[in-house]
Amino acid sequence: MIFTVAIDGPAAAGKGTISKAVATHFGFPHLDTGLLYRATGRRVLAGEEPVAAAQGLRPEDLDRDDLRTAEVAQAASRVAAVPEVRAALIAFQRAFARREGGAVLDGRDIGTVICPDAEVKLYVTASDEVRAARRYLELSAKGAATSPAEVLDDLRARDARDAGRDTAPMKPAPDALLLDTTNLSIEAAVEEAVRAVKQKLEQGRR
Ligand code: C5P
Repeated sequence: MIFTVAIDGPAAAGKGTISKAVATHFGFPHLDTGLLYRATGRRVLAGEEPVAAAQGLRPEDLDRDDLRTAEVAQAASRVAAVPEVRAALIAFQRAFARREGGAVLDGRDIGTVICPDAEVKLYVTASDEVRAARRYLELSAKGAATSPAEVLDDLRARDARDAGRDTAPMKPAPDALLLDTTNLSIEAAVEEAVRAVKQKLEQGRR
């Protein structure tokens, strides 16, 4: 069975948590596509040229434990605006999306560019303030020196770059189910996502 769940949306809206929960629920493998851009950005911070960094990505680059910093997030968003960087990462993502047995991918352009034929598309959002508060908690739990205002500024800068670029800008696919988690608990959001996937799987069996 080929079955893709595409989950897009801005940073810290909850798509990572929802993706992992959906993947676990249905036994689908999960790809956090942001990691590809973070790993590329990390290599650029170390001195490599962006396109060569993307073309030379290796599986172990995704396992590094320093990909979740604010500095790497901004570097990721800058390399993600380079069309040749995105092109270098397409084949891997498409193969993952259409592998036998189903797959969940989360990112910014999964439902629009990587897999426009995805069986289920979700677009997860939340207000800027709620997203910044969540990200601030995550970063401060890891001991990162930052402030809520700085996190909010960082998120807004990244959203503006991700939504404003010419190639594969962050936006909902026309047929995506919108999930606003501003006032929704993570359990309720996961439940809605699971319900959408279940419904589509059942339709496919009829
Ligand atoms: O999801 P995450 O915050 O880890 O993504 C880091 C950056 O990678 C995003 O800000 C965005 O610029 C880029 N990205 C992208 N397309 C994706 C996933 C991530 O452009 N599918």
